[in-house]
Amino acid sequence: MGFGQGFGKTIVFGEHFVVYGLPAIASAITSSTTAEVKRSKDGKYKLIDNRPETPGYKKQKQSQQEESIKLIFKFLGIDPAKTPVEITLGGDLVAASGVGASAASCAAIARALNEEFSLGLDDEKINEAAFEGEKGYHGTPSGIDNTAAVYGGLIKFTKGQKGTQMEKIKIEPIEIVLGNTGLTSDTTAVVGDVKKEKEKNQGEFEKIFKEYLRISEQALSAFRENDIGKIGKLMNENHKLLQKIGVSCKELEELVEIARENGAIGAKLTGTGRGGLMIALTPEKTLQEKVAKAIEKTGKTAFRTRIG
Ligand code: MEV
Repeated sequence: MGFGQGFGKTIVFGEHFVVYGLPAIASAITSSTTAEVKRSKDGKYKLIDNRPETPGYKKQKQSQQEESIKLIFKFLGIDPAKTPVEITLGGDLVAASGVGASAASCAAIARALNEEFSLGLDDEKINEAAFEGEKGYHGTPSGIDNTAAVYGGLIKFTKGQKGTQMEKIKIEPIEIVLGNTGLTSDTTAVVGDVKKEKEKNQGEFEKIFKEYLRISEQALSAFRENDIGKIGKLMNENHKLLQKIGVSCKELEELVEIARENGAIGAKLTGTGRGGLMIALTPEKTLQEKVAKAIEKTGKTAFRTRIG
């Protein structure tokens, strides 16, 4: 049997901007997806998906998941018709929008296939396989989600014309809360809408991109100096820009508001937006608990985890 694991992720700075080559900062979180691969006894390919989920997520993503796994098989040169396998997904990462669920499962599946078929792939190749799989979920991924899922830790990620660049940033882990709107978002559609908006309002987007570049540069320094107050303030500023490009929604705004009112140092949407998750910076367990409880009081779910 082959086994693999992929981390969930949260984007602390730069979702959407990363698609246009601007640097983003993301972190793996403590929860992960696992995959077990074994040769199928009845000669048929089978997928058993035991991941916990936001209601409706798996059904909504089913055809994209099928496409994604096909792409991973193809990249790894495995023909499931000739060597049928049974893939079982599990782990403690809740399959939801905004937490890198698709990338975590792609990384886990690639690792498990690598082990079962003794392919001898290193992390770089696993990351390439996971990136192929991500294409099944959203046609033109930047690659940030699979990179965080494969390597873990806090990373600076830039998608360049000549490939991607990843740099690890060493920090002491910081407590965060991820608030879940319970809504599943469609990354392809939201990324497509941003592209259309950008084409319509080029001047406005140029200004927004310039402003984001300043935020990302300052955020990097703030992480290096362990300046938590500054990181939080910059997260709030990043959220404003995400509102401007039209990827927030009423449910995300409510979660951001609750987190800030209850003492979060900073809060913003994370990932695709228009549903999915909100990230709140809540150093120390007491503050983390306070913010998480305030979110749960509204009937929404909150994940207590850490970045770095
Ligand atoms: C999705 O987690 C992050 C986006 O920036 C898309 C991408 O980077 O591929 C919205």
